[in-house]
Amino acid sequence: MCGIVAYIGDKPALPLLLEGLRRLEYRGYDSAGVALVDRDALWMRKQVGRVADLDREVGGAPEATVGIAHTRWATHGGITQPNAHPHLDAQGRVAVIHNGIIENFSQLRLALEADGVVFRSETDTEVLPHLIAKHLRGDPLAAVTEALKSVRGTYGIAVLFADFPDEIVVARNGSPLVIGLGDGETLVASDPQAIVAHTRQVLYVQDREIARITRGRADIRTLGGVGVQRQSTRIDDVYGVADLDGFPHFMLKEIHEQPAAITRCLAGRVQVEEGNAKLGGLNLAPRDLVGIERVVLLGCGTSHHAGLVGAMAIEAMARIPAQAEIASEFRYRHPIVARDALYLAVSQSGETSDTLGAVEEVMLKGGEVCGLVNVVGSTIARTCGKGVYIHSGPEIAVASTKAFNSQVSALLVFTLMLARARNLSLGQGREMARQLQEIPSLVARFLDAPGPIDQAVERLIHAPYVLYLGRGFSFPVALEGALKLKEIAYVPCEAYPGGEMKHGPIAMLSKGSPVVFVIPDDAHRDKAMSNLKEVEARGADVIAIHTEGDDEIAALSGVSIPIPRTANWASPLVSVVPLQLMAYRAALALGRDIDKPRNLAKSVTVE
Ligand code: M6R
Repeated sequence: MCGIVAYIGDKPALPLLLEGLRRLEYRGYDSAGVALVDRDALWMRKQVGRVADLDREVGGAPEATVGIAHTRWATHGGITQPNAHPHLDAQGRVAVIHNGIIENFSQLRLALEADGVVFRSETDTEVLPHLIAKHLRGDPLAAVTEALKSVRGTYGIAVLFADFPDEIVVARNGSPLVIGLGDGETLVASDPQAIVAHTRQVLYVQDREIARITRGRADIRTLGGVGVQRQSTRIDDVYGVADLDGFPHFMLKEIHEQPAAITRCLAGRVQVEEGNAKLGGLNLAPRDLVGIERVVLLGCGTSHHAGLVGAMAIEAMARIPAQAEIASEFRYRHPIVARDALYLAVSQSGETSDTLGAVEEVMLKGGEVCGLVNVVGSTIARTCGKGVYIHSGPEIAVASTKAFNSQVSALLVFTLMLARARNLSLGQGREMARQLQEIPSLVARFLDAPGPIDQAVERLIHAPYVLYLGRGFSFPVALEGALKLKEIAYVPCEAYPGGEMKHGPIAMLSKGSPVVFVIPDDAHRDKAMSNLKEVEARGADVIAIHTEGDDEIAALSGVSIPIPRTANWASPLVSVVPLQLMAYRAALALGRDIDKPRNLAKSVTVE
């Protein structure tokens, strides 16, 4: 989603800002822009498209050492050059870049227009430079503070002033901002990865804080005017420049990284001899584990699907009520937060606004919430204060693949730890630990010989509608498979529990309709088999993901994709892989922009 980079120092700012934007590209955006301050004047360029398109427009830029740059993911107003950031005040003396949403922008805009201000864009952001200019009387920080008093919504902003060329003002409420301190230079970004090439020493700006940024310094205070003393922290988890390693797309690379990612997630945590697991970051002793009466998993999209698998595993193995909640719904429905419940916020990026909102709601109501996050030092990880890193490594493709499997793995490790403290014997614990350890090699074995994926793809790519089905642990897998196909191939599809299908979606089926059925040999297999026969009787063309050697299902399917046998609770880690590959190859066949699908962002930092 939108990205912010700002620089003040002694080096030419422009190349540094563009490089920062390139490091944010994976997050998804549709236009980009940059502003520099040079000899008391603002110089600005913005462009629809990629950072490379902006790069072509910056010839003749001044050798300025102060500037701000932005990638925009459209929310208010179309994808146009005037709507791209930065936005200027009427005199062109104040430039603003903004992540987030100004919720009361229409009232603010009407009031400014009544004062004679002429707007040049359709964005919510443009109210900010006009408001700041209105309050500017010699003190940039005071002007921004004053302007923000009338603003309702979320923001991470960086403001550049033609008349104050030796400072940048930044502020945050709900949209991440990090300040990097270097030797005689200071950088600001919405994601530390944009600036870590220059400095690892960072200060995280918190909500309702504002800072005056000068060369090598950042003076932070609250929006109420109270000075903030904050120790800088060092970032060690630095992602290198993303490398395709010979793969044509990051998504395919990340699908193939899954055995290694799962291994990393399990390493040092699963204790086969003890039949147990250890997740030190949760800081939960056996006595605490025994006291947990309910587990609630909060997440969005793929992370929610991983949460669904986790909830089922916890109920099945630890015999504790567990539920996965869509974070965007949970946060606004005035949830009952139980004191004896453990809440787990599941997020790859650790920046998803809705998941963060749910975390804050739980905390506000006195609940205990831990993070289950990939990106080290991200907002959700820091807000929770304790939790589990899934150690997936950087996930660049917008469509999440290896993070799903690492999230499920971490949740299964947690399940083992919880179940062992409660009702699993040593022998049962050892068996579960052994089966977990086996997963990476099973995923690797499937990836080595994935079966007739292309036969499935031929049936999917021109279908007007595809139905994904699964029961038990395979229903979240069906949801995840359908999400992947929608996200990157734009093929209309939906997922249902096998038993629910005849209560409606079966009406969509006719002769030749593709139905993707995830049907491993588990406790649900025979019931799922009846559903398979029901769709087959309507002429559906079944693509079955089934356990190796299940000839009965193979015989009933148009396309049979066998997967290695696992424990039922571990099957999602393997059965999701053919669905990822099917979506990837469908998108490839349809000529889609696989790693940066239309309208999507990697990090959804607005609600
Ligand atoms: O970073 P998060 O895991 O919190 O992101 C949640 C969703 O936005 C994300 O999983 C989204 O659904 C992906 N594009 C799925 O491929």
